[in-house]
Amino acid sequence: MNLIDVLIQQHRDAEALFEAWRRAPDEEKPELCLRLAEALTMHSTIEERWVYPVARTVVAGPRIDFAVEEHGEMTQLLSELLSVRHDARRREATLRQLEAVAAQHMAEEEREILPRLRQMDSGAFGLSSAEIVRSASDARREAMRQLEASAPP
Ligand SMILES: [Fe+2]
Ligand SMILES: [Fe+2]
Repeated sequence: MNLIDVLIQQHRDAEALFEAWRRAPDEEKPELCLRLAEALTMHSTIEERWVYPVARTVVAGPRIDFAVEEHGEMTQLLSELLSVRHDARRREATLRQLEAVAAQHMAEEEREILPRLRQMDSGAFGLSSAEIVRSASDARREAMRQLEASAPP
């Protein structure tokens, strides 16, 4: 699968997790928070390590800097989410905020960044999609440890 299609599929998977959160019974929500954190962390890792450096060569202006800032905002919200995931009121508020930021960020990427990368040669990203996903899943474990460690008390 083309890397851009992998990324777009990951956006749909993230949306599906937010949908699942809306329907899930209360006792399943802490686990869903972990799954969301893993999915979004792995996705951002792929983009920051392999996609944005290439995107900077074809997308003009500060668009990629904004995208990196939005990742930072999401990381902060995810770390908050992990620490409040058993507190229903704070968890729901954080999830709503996270969903709004993530939805806007993904829509902007799909409108302004990802279409520009479709024309790139498959070798442009340095590794194949499968290799990138594999390395990102190793990176995700480390990122989750950092998220947990940086979660506010
Ligand atoms: Fe992103
Ligand atoms: Fe993305």
